[in-house]
Amino acid sequence: MTLKNLKKIVAKYALRYIPKKKIIGIGTGSTISYFIKYLRKIKDSIQGAVSSSNHTTISLKKNGIPVIALNDVDYISIYFDSADEINNNMDMIKGGGAALMQEKIIASASKKFVCMIDYTKKVNVLGKFPLPIEVLPMSYKYVKKELEKLGGIVKKRKKVITDNNNYILDIKNLYINNPIYLEKKINNIPGVISVGIFSQRQPDILLISNYTQVQTILNKS
Ligand code: 5RP
Repeated sequence: MTLKNLKKIVAKYALRYIPKKKIIGIGTGSTISYFIKYLRKIKDSIQGAVSSSNHTTISLKKNGIPVIALNDVDYISIYFDSADEINNNMDMIKGGGAALMQEKIIASASKKFVCMIDYTKKVNVLGKFPLPIEVLPMSYKYVKKELEKLGGIVKKRKKVITDNNNYILDIKNLYINNPIYLEKKINNIPGVISVGIFSQRQPDILLISNYTQVQTILNKS
């Protein structure tokens, strides 16, 4: 079975968490693209969706799912997204698709967060996947120097401008053994818009597809 199929399986499985007549939040990425295709079949059971990126908005509209602005909702019942890496404590790296800022906002604004991954994204220590950081363009050289002090190799992602007109810096070779500390530390650098460590807003429910089943892990913290 391919990774693509594992993503499809977990995306379909996540449909069981869709509440009736509520507003849901939707992340960004290939797993989410499959999720939206499955969601299309039951789209009349929800009120609409708050989208985390231009890409997701286009996909939702194409599939006939009403898109609602975050500022127009009282609350979001549940947020669905994937991740690039997740550790045993449910800390994550996200932002491979450069949508980390809105993803973090919507995840934080949602009562529940369901994260769906294939088993290859489960790790003991975060950092093998380059850590994405969204930065204000006028500050990126300063921020890059500050990030280099953390010990990794920092590169500006080529030809990428985020939906908020910012740049992405990726840090390679970081060994993230204290995710919450690093999330706060990087957030504190002037010029940083958002960091792809999701330690303060972890998923409540993690779904992991492997070759035989979808495993469900509830976040007890
Ligand atoms: C986008 C993200 C995605 O959730 C992450 O990159 C996983 O994507 P995919 O489902 O394509 O593997 O954080 O910013």
